Amino acid sequence: MKSYIVLSLFVTLCAGGAIPNMPLDNSNYVEGKSRYIWMPDGDNVPHLVDLQAATTASQPRNGEDNQYWLYTRQNPQSHQLLIPNDVASVRNSNFNASLPIKVIVHGWISSGTSEINPMIRDAYLQIGDFNIIVVDWSGAAGGIYTSAVLAVPSVGQHLGNFLNWLISDFGGNFRNMHLVGFSLGGHVIGNAGRVVGGRIARLTALDPAGPQWSGNRFSLNRHDGIYVETIHTDGGLLGIFDPISDADFYPNGGRDPQPGCPSSPCSHARAYELFAASVVHNHLFGRHCRDITEARHNRCRGTMHQMGNSHLRKRGYGLFALSTGAEWPY
Ligand SMILES: *[C@@H]1O[C@H](CO)[C@@H](O)[C@H](O)[C@H]1NC(C)=O
Repeated sequence: MKSYIVLSLFVTLCAGGAIPNMPLDNSNYVEGKSRYIWMPDGDNVPHLVDLQAATTASQPRNGEDNQYWLYTRQNPQSHQLLIPNDVASVRNSNFNASLPIKVIVHGWISSGTSEINPMIRDAYLQIGDFNIIVVDWSGAAGGIYTSAVLAVPSVGQHLGNFLNWLISDFGGNFRNMHLVGFSLGGHVIGNAGRVVGGRIARLTALDPAGPQWSGNRFSLNRHDGIYVETIHTDGGLLGIFDPISDADFYPNGGRDPQPGCPSSPCSHARAYELFAASVVHNHLFGRHCRDITEARHNRCRGTMHQMGNSHLRKRGYGLFALSTGAEWPY
């Protein structure tokens, strides 16, 4: 019995199953091998996630519970609830089909009130008037990570169906639509774009979640929208490092530590801070890289391409790297 316990402990350690003892320290994490990783929730509280945890049927896994919160310059702070297939909920709101639609999708253990939402919403409303739709999928995004991963396809499908209904019943155009998703939300927007046949003008994934997404057929890919862009800031840890979009940006090498960040969760969150700053200032320029090694070492010298910003007709292909500052607006 004793030798069995010793053996199984040995096997666990060899398989990279050692529990990282320092909160927030993901430095020993190896994608595809390690069992545990520290992940922040929407309030930046760290949780130790077991990537082999059994999924639970009691955790909702259905995008039916998605909520769609509308903000415009007429209601910049308090949302109006848009309800799928409820015509009055849209008619009686400030939704304006002639304005572009910007959709913001949060990540794990987060909600429509998590920091990412007001940060990106306020950035947009500072530069113009838009239909800002914050997706609250807190029910399925809460609880254990492995279950939240399984919820992503359905959450994305319901979002895609809702946007399809909005366009077909109230006017507007997929060419005036931009979806922005952080971490697991980066994969949600991919699934939403797929449901409407890749017709959405622009998708921006902010450090799309890495654990359990390599080789996952529901992962974001470059066919999910007309122009698909990813900003990698904690690649190989909480985010994906490999390029998966038309244009993949690697600020400061695309990995932890980002400037001024003491931890991998901070580097992960930097993706939406950089994006929000770029919406306001459009001041961050990547340089084209010949390969991923150049990107990782931030040694790219090719043509310039703007990272982030609010433009709907953006185009660009390849890998791009750049240096940023440590504080807003970076
Ligand atoms: C909708 O947006 C357009 C374009 O900005 C504007 O001209 C129009 O007045 C808006 N409609 C309403 C009802 O606010």
